Amino acid sequence: MAKADGRLIVVSNRLPVVITKGADGRCVATPGSGGLVTALLPVLRDRGGIWIGWPGTSDPECGTEDVLAQAAAGTGYSLLPVTLSEDEIEKFYMGFSNEIIWPLFHDLPSFCNFEPSYWEVYTQVNRKYARAIIRHATPHDLIWVQDYHLIDTAAELRRLNSDAHIAFFLHIPFPSLDLFLKLPWRQALLRALLDYDLIGFQTLRDRRNFIQCLRTLIRDVQVYGKGQVLLARTGQREVRIGHFPIGIDYGAFANQAATEAVAARAAELHRLLPNRQLILGIDRLDYTKGILLRLQAFRNALMRYPKLRSNVTLIQVVVPSREHIPKYFDLRSQIEQLVGRINGEFTQPGGWVPIHYVFRSLDPLDLLAYYRAAEIGLVTPLKDGMNLVAKEYCTCSIEEDCVLILSEFAGAAAQLRHGALLVNPFDIEGMADAIYRAYSMNRAERQRRVHRMRREIQRRDVFWWVDSFLKAAFARNLDAFPVVAAGV
Ligand code: F6P
Repeated sequence: MAKADGRLIVVSNRLPVVITKGADGRCVATPGSGGLVTALLPVLRDRGGIWIGWPGTSDPECGTEDVLAQAAAGTGYSLLPVTLSEDEIEKFYMGFSNEIIWPLFHDLPSFCNFEPSYWEVYTQVNRKYARAIIRHATPHDLIWVQDYHLIDTAAELRRLNSDAHIAFFLHIPFPSLDLFLKLPWRQALLRALLDYDLIGFQTLRDRRNFIQCLRTLIRDVQVYGKGQVLLARTGQREVRIGHFPIGIDYGAFANQAATEAVAARAAELHRLLPNRQLILGIDRLDYTKGILLRLQAFRNALMRYPKLRSNVTLIQVVVPSREHIPKYFDLRSQIEQLVGRINGEFTQPGGWVPIHYVFRSLDPLDLLAYYRAAEIGLVTPLKDGMNLVAKEYCTCSIEEDCVLILSEFAGAAAQLRHGALLVNPFDIEGMADAIYRAYSMNRAERQRRVHRMRREIQRRDVFWWVDSFLKAAFARNLDAFPVVAAGV
């Protein structure tokens, strides 16, 4: 049985590293810097641990244990690779994970490609991960599997006779019953989840959807409890089911955003785009982010509220992602056409350009400066597990004078609904009205709203997330968990 002070084995599709091959043919791995690594690092360092995952490359010379050892040097944990063949990348990662689960779980079933051969490779790759876990884990370790690529990993471990203590966190939404029923492998996937000892969701909405699917599809299931963590029993198995909204490293973001360097870069941005409010959208290139409808809403706002013309500029940053998947490739050209069309309609030659479009990732200084400089943040996904851009944006508003326009279908809306202007991302006029309302909002109201959101983001930061998840994994009984506050 895993011990509360045993090692942590984190398993995720991708390892938290960036591997590049230099001109001399040498592979260099540098540690990743995302929120998940930041949160797990202290735990991995204290308890000792291993991170197992795909190094993100199919180059046989890169992604080896030696190359990964460079990146892990001094971190206190080891990085162990699971290598994927080209066929596995195509059918497991791009196929089942990103052409079936991703669109279906984001309520876009018409975007799914239910290719039958994807399932077999999905289970085959999950078995590979399970074998890697068995090779490295001891009975005292807690195995913590991350996200939708690896739903089947616990089932594969059980097939290999493992009775390890295995927890799972789903970073993306869990769909409603009607949508989940469309999945040809619905029974197998649901049963696979029940092979975990703890399943964590982002929000109450996701947990409710999951329990409704369980009650409909698994005949003998019983669900007990009423706190943050519930208990499901089926046959001999007992599974804990909780919701744990993931957060950011509030302290690090707030401190860095308050530095002179960021203030200077933010001021420079205002100097370059003077006498107007800046509206910021920052998204990974993904059809779930609602970028096209948001651009249409911005156009609608410019048409219906002429006062906005030359008094606002939209900075839309799109970070390249999954470009080998046709839907993503197409989306990029649709965005670029629409930006061109809107700029063509409204630009004043020699003067105001309504949209400044950036297609690349921003370096950390620019990212913080854009967050800090923008008076209005537009975060309007069609559906999102959480959306950390919304949290990062509010946190970086050091003067607490910004307005967040947030989709009601982002997981973050459950926590930020008292401060944000909530919008339906399918309602173009509604979003346009929200843009105008944000533009016109007085300073006192902005401050009251953003202050409330920043307190919530600070209270439930990423360290709170890790602590509450591990507490749920190890708590002897579940009475310790609070009865869920509405919406969170
Ligand atoms: O939001 C889900 C997620 O898997 C994130 O963890 C990740 O940053 C992003 O999507 C992109 O992931 P990938 O490039 O591995 O498909």
